[in-house]
Amino acid sequence: MGTLQRRRMQCNAADELFTKPSNLEGKQMNSHKKYDRPIQIGEGIYWVGFYEEESNLHCNPYLIVEDDKAVLIDSGSRPDFAIVLRKILQASVDPNQIIGLIYQHFDPDLCGSMPNMIDICENKNLKIFSEIANNVFITYYIDREKHHLLDSIDNHDYKFTFNNRTLLFIKTPYSHSQGSFVTYDVKTKTLFTSDLFGSFSTKWDLFLKLDNDCITCADYNNCKNKKDYCPLPDILTFHRKLMPCEKSLKHAMSEIKNLDINMIAPQHGSILPNRRDVYFLIQKLEYLKGVGIDSIL
Ligand SMILES: [Fe+2]
Ligand SMILES: [Fe+2]
Repeated sequence: MGTLQRRRMQCNAADELFTKPSNLEGKQMNSHKKYDRPIQIGEGIYWVGFYEEESNLHCNPYLIVEDDKAVLIDSGSRPDFAIVLRKILQASVDPNQIIGLIYQHFDPDLCGSMPNMIDICENKNLKIFSEIANNVFITYYIDREKHHLLDSIDNHDYKFTFNNRTLLFIKTPYSHSQGSFVTYDVKTKTLFTSDLFGSFSTKWDLFLKLDNDCITCADYNNCKNKKDYCPLPDILTFHRKLMPCEKSLKHAMSEIKNLDINMIAPQHGSILPNRRDVYFLIQKLEYLKGVGIDSIL
């Protein structure tokens, strides 16, 4: 089967998800139609995830496009593949333009679709970027003959430049995996943080902007503004459950806090587009108590 024919079949399969929705998908489409298409969140940066009403763990893959080249960050799970592919095509990016697949750690919610992504990204310069400790496990997602595509940020002085775009990689060990890292886009000052700054929220929106009162609030169960949902407890609970200990989370925040950040784009939960909220949450997480094993011992 030719490449074009195969790609057309992939697109048709992705289209089917939307033109013949199950009851659940139909309900999602009606309630959150705005998320049916890729959403540009910054210059050349597209959110290519999807809204799922019943889920409290939304996964956010991101596509960064610079002229004729693109990279995909934390592409998503195996079941997410068709929808993410559709969003990439809707962003007018041919998968052949993708020269880098970046995986900020090795969990299946971000790496599950890796073999499918490798199959559709037929660019001869394609690289899969992760970190040495992650790659030990990432090899199990892909066939042996594709292992040569695996590369480590350690081999590239923690930076990757394509066309006019430079991405910096900052290690955040044990937040939550040994090889976890975050990715900083120099052009837009966007920080892609994988599980850091994620949330278990059931009341999801793509963007989260905190109220002025949230910054000084001392009791998240008693909203001054009488809002029926406060996002902060879900964010803090997520970090307490997912991060191994206070020390590793504190270290991650100390690595991040000196960066000049306009926006945080996490793999779960919502994007933080306000600088004030970014630095407020960094400080909140830096001193968070009861994280991981620290909540037990
Ligand atoms: Fe994870
Ligand atoms: Fe995750």
